[in-house]
Order: sequence, then C-alpha cells, then structure tokens
Amino acid sequence: MESPVQDVASDEAADLLRDPYPFFAKKRRETGGVFRGSVMDWSQAPDAMPENLYAAVSFDAVNRVFRDGKVFNSHIYDNTIGLFIGPTILAMEGKKHWDHRNLVSSAFKSKSLARWEPEVVRPVVTALIDEFVEDGRADLVRDFTFEFPTRVISKLLGLPEDDLPWFRKRAVELISYHVRYKRAFEASAALKDYFLDQIEQRRSKPTEDIIGDLVSAEIDGEKLSDESIFSFLRLLLPAGLETTYRSSGNLLYLLLTHRDQFAAVQNDRDLIPAAIEEGLRFETPLTTVQRYATEETELEGVTLPRGSVIDVCIGSANRDENRWERSEEFDIFRKRVPHISFAAGEHTCMGLHLARMETRVAVECLLDRITNIELIPDDNPHIAGQPFRSPTALPVTFDPVG
Ligand code: HEM
Repeated sequence: MESPVQDVASDEAADLLRDPYPFFAKKRRETGGVFRGSVMDWSQAPDAMPENLYAAVSFDAVNRVFRDGKVFNSHIYDNTIGLFIGPTILAMEGKKHWDHRNLVSSAFKSKSLARWEPEVVRPVVTALIDEFVEDGRADLVRDFTFEFPTRVISKLLGLPEDDLPWFRKRAVELISYHVRYKRAFEASAALKDYFLDQIEQRRSKPTEDIIGDLVSAEIDGEKLSDESIFSFLRLLLPAGLETTYRSSGNLLYLLLTHRDQFAAVQNDRDLIPAAIEEGLRFETPLTTVQRYATEETELEGVTLPRGSVIDVCIGSANRDENRWERSEEFDIFRKRVPHISFAAGEHTCMGLHLARMETRVAVECLLDRITNIELIPDDNPHIAGQPFRSPTALPVTFDPVG
C-alpha cells in the first residue's frame, strides 16, 4: 500500500508547493483517477493526517464526488474553516443546505449583478488604477489584484468607506487562518461584532446592499438568524475575496508570460472571457477541497470505507488529458470544455458570475489604461502554493495610455 507521507513528506514537498501539477499528472497516469493517499503536503503535521485518506484526481472522479452530496458530505468544513467562520452553507447538505442557500442567494440575484458592474466594480477598478497609473511601475498583486475584490466586497456589503482599512486588515487576518490561527480567531470575533452592528443598523433603516438583502430575506415566513448572517458574511472573505484576487493574479501572470496570447487579448477584448476560463482551468486558485464518505462506496473502481476523507483535486481534474487535448498547455484559443474550478452539484460556487464579471472588468480597465506592460524578471515572479495558489507579487513596468 502506498503511503501518502512518503509521497509528499520528502524533498519533493517544496516542489509540490511550487508546482504540484507534475505530481497530479503522475497520479492520474498511475491510478484510475482515485488512490489511497493525499495530494496535500502533510510533512508539517503528519500526525494530523486522517487514517482513511483518499484522493480523487481525474475529472470524472472529482465531478462524481461534487455531484453526490449524499455520499460525499461537506461537514468536514465544520472542523476546518468552519471553526473560524461559523456554521455556513458550505458545510450543510440536503434540504437544510437548499433552504439556506435559497435564502442567502437572494443577495446574489442577476438583477443585482447587472447593477453592480457600472455602479460598483468599474468605479472601484478605475479609481484603483488611478492610484498607480502615472508611476510607470506597480506590483499588480499588492496594488491591484488583492485590492479590487476587497474594495468591491466592502462596497457590495454597504460598509462605510472609512472602515475599509480596518475591514481589509481583519479580512487578511481571517483568510490567513492556516498560518496564524490565533489572530484569525481574534479577527473572526471582531468581524462578528462589526457585522452584528451593521445588521442592527439595517433592521432600523433598511438598505439596498448585500447585508440589507440578507436581513430582509424571507422564504415561507422564515428569516435568517443573526448567526447565519454574520457567518455567511465571514464566509464571503475566503470564498469570494481570496479566490478572486488569486485567480485574477494567476490570469495576469499567465498572460504576461504568454506574450502572443497577451497581444491577442490586447487587440481583441472579446477574447477576455475565453482567457478568464482558460486561466481558471489552467491555474485554479483553489486546487483541492475535501469531503467525507458517509457510507462505503466505490469511486472509479476503488472502494472507499465509510468515514474516509477525500481530497477532491480540482487542479488535477482541470488538467485531465482525457478531457482536454494538450491539457498541460495554457491556450486561450482551445476548444472550450467546461472546467470544474467553481465545483459542481449543490455547492457550485454562488459567486461565479460575480467573479467572472469582476475579473473581466479588471482586465478590460487595465488594458484600456496601460500599455507596454512587462514583468520585471529579476524578481522571479511565479505562481505558488497548495491548496491556494497565486503569484505573491507581479512587479511590472508599463506606460500609461494617452
Ligand atoms: C474565481 C473565483 C472563485 C472560485 C474559483 C470559487 C470557487 C468555489 C468553489 C470550488 C466552491 C465549492 C467549495 C466546496 O464545495 O467545497 C465555492 C463555493 C462558494 N463560493 Fe466561490 N469561488 C470564487 C468566487 C466567489 C465569489 C466572488 C463569491 C461571492 C462573493 C463566492 C461565494 C461562494 C459561496 C457562498 C460558496 C458556497 C456555496 C455552497 O456551499 O452552496 N465565490 N466557490
């Protein structure tokens, strides 16, 4: 029996963080898409590794796990990120999940999305570019990709402008829960008090923003409790802010290092949606999530005992050679076949349209405002991390347009 610890707790651990894709490809080649072991680096805490650990790495295996929420249950989040954000739809299943998701999704109506683009996203992105466009150089992670989803979320929630620095700091502390858990707990408590105050204000004076929508959301006379609201708001930080800043950083990095494709997008903005989808396929911001098996089951020929923990490897599924030709190449012109970066089934990302729209607007505005953009190679910018991946910095030089 193969030991996952031997697989990853070795000199290869660093390589796995830098680029886990060769390891994913090896596992797809050597197995039928599912194996006993892990795609994560457990070398830091091998004792914490669950005994019955399996990994799904083919597209079909990952897709089946996502679509069978009865057998592959997401309660596992209660013991991980749920400790920091509280009980949310991410860890619910079945009717409870359905009812709850219907209530919170009222804040993400397509009507709102159409309004958010001109009223919130474009002004936020434009103002941000104004802040660095005359400098001729910037770190696009620090100055742009991290900052725009934070500002967008804060505006969509209807938070006062002056609270942005405080909110940004607490958001970073919360999403860094895997490295500084004590500070993340403190941030979580501070955000709870802050959101409770915002909820209270909307009860006395209704507003047209996400918090206002959550406060008034009602199905069959049922309203959301305060705890459900502030937990959902805290969920939006890792779910909506971290994923979007990382995926837009990945896309910019990929375009800046594939100059012919960058030039094509610059000349034809209609290519931006295809570039976004290919960026999400090729470098998903979140490579792996987990599920529990609620009963003994078979997955791609492998018997998983009841209680198994499964690494659901989105990153590997997105490079499955049985689904995409030249799957290990970034190619915005490829025949479009849906990726699985937004998951599938009942937990399919609730913010996928917002994420796509934010990224499109960010790329459009950037291309409108700056030209001759070059990565500064001396700083060795690159994408890294597992399970969250993105460039830590994107130092660039450029000329302002006009
Ligand atoms: C490129 C950006 C994004 C990616 C790649 C992404 C990816 C995902 C994935 C993989 C899941 C499923 C997790 C699981 O089942 O274990 C998910 C769920 C979710 N996402 Fe996103 N997401 C993105 C942006 C957003 C945004 C912008 C928001 C909202 C502001 C958002 C809100 C949510 C919520 C609320 C869920 C939970 C849905 C449920 O459990 O029913 N996401 N996302």
